[in-house]
Amino acid sequence: VPKYVQLTVELPEEASEVAQLALHEGGALGVEVRDSQSPCLPGVRAPNPGEALLVGSYNSANKAQSARRAVERAVPSARIQVEALEDRDWSSAWKDLIRAVEVGRLWVGPPWLTDGAPAGKVRVVVEPKRAFGTGDHPTTRLCLAAVDDYLAVHPRASVLDVGTGTGVLAIAARKLGAARAVGIDNDPISVDLARECAQLNDAEVELSGASLERLKGSFDLVVANILANTLVDLAPLIASKVDDRLVLAGVLAPQAEEVTAAYRARGLTAAGSASEGDWVRLDFHATTSRPHP
Ligand SMILES: C[S@@+](CC[C@H](N)C(=O)[O-])C[C@H]1O[C@@H](n2cnc3c(N)ncnc32)[C@H](O)[C@@H]1O
Repeated sequence: VPKYVQLTVELPEEASEVAQLALHEGGALGVEVRDSQSPCLPGVRAPNPGEALLVGSYNSANKAQSARRAVERAVPSARIQVEALEDRDWSSAWKDLIRAVEVGRLWVGPPWLTDGAPAGKVRVVVEPKRAFGTGDHPTTRLCLAAVDDYLAVHPRASVLDVGTGTGVLAIAARKLGAARAVGIDNDPISVDLARECAQLNDAEVELSGASLERLKGSFDLVVANILANTLVDLAPLIASKVDDRLVLAGVLAPQAEEVTAAYRARGLTAAGSASEGDWVRLDFHATTSRPHP
């Protein structure tokens, strides 16, 4: 007899809330939401663009069936999949998906893998929770490499991380010697988790939900790992924060040209790129470079 029954619901993002309600009303033990607002942990299936993917877990098949009917009534177009989970320690099964990564001088991984971190690496420990940025997503890895490279040459630089998630990039920057590291995110849960993460790493990082408009000053290095359309929208604000170097990730290869054009139009000069799979990182420098450490 399966211990848990899981419903996976895929539907247009606009219909997500009503379906979440239906899943909860069916007596879910928990409902996980994956959508554009809450990027999922690496290794798990992501929703299609414009859609949300909900996972409701139930401790009886009857509850799962009644939740299924409730979702079907609420959102007839939803695609629903029912799956019985084996009787295992499912609350920690996801841990198997989390890997530690080594990028340049950095080791980034979860608390339970720190024993395996090679001596001599700069460690960033990230407890995987709801925020994006455990280190092992290609976009994060690409940014970690850029942060490591920049700070190797400019060890006392100031760094701004736009869309900080877990805070991983800002924390890494600070641990590599940045004189100042600031991380902002428009998701309050991410900001809370990033603060926890900074504390866990004993790293002094300024983390907040401040908007770019409100944020004072400019920075030697600005990193933004957000999706391409957001990067295009934010181009004027992000560009205004760059003293020397800008690094953008979260861009898929076919979107690179559009994102590059948006930042060129703001006076930045393209300075190379890096890629991993379909993901591209775009580097720029400020045309009139101000002095930087
Ligand atoms: C892909 S995650 C990157 C997390 C981390 N910096 C990393 O590299 O792993 C993108 C983050 O940007 C945040 N975000 C999305 N749009 C934003 C915006 N307009 N302003 C600030 N943060 C934003 C999201 O909440 C999310 O935490």
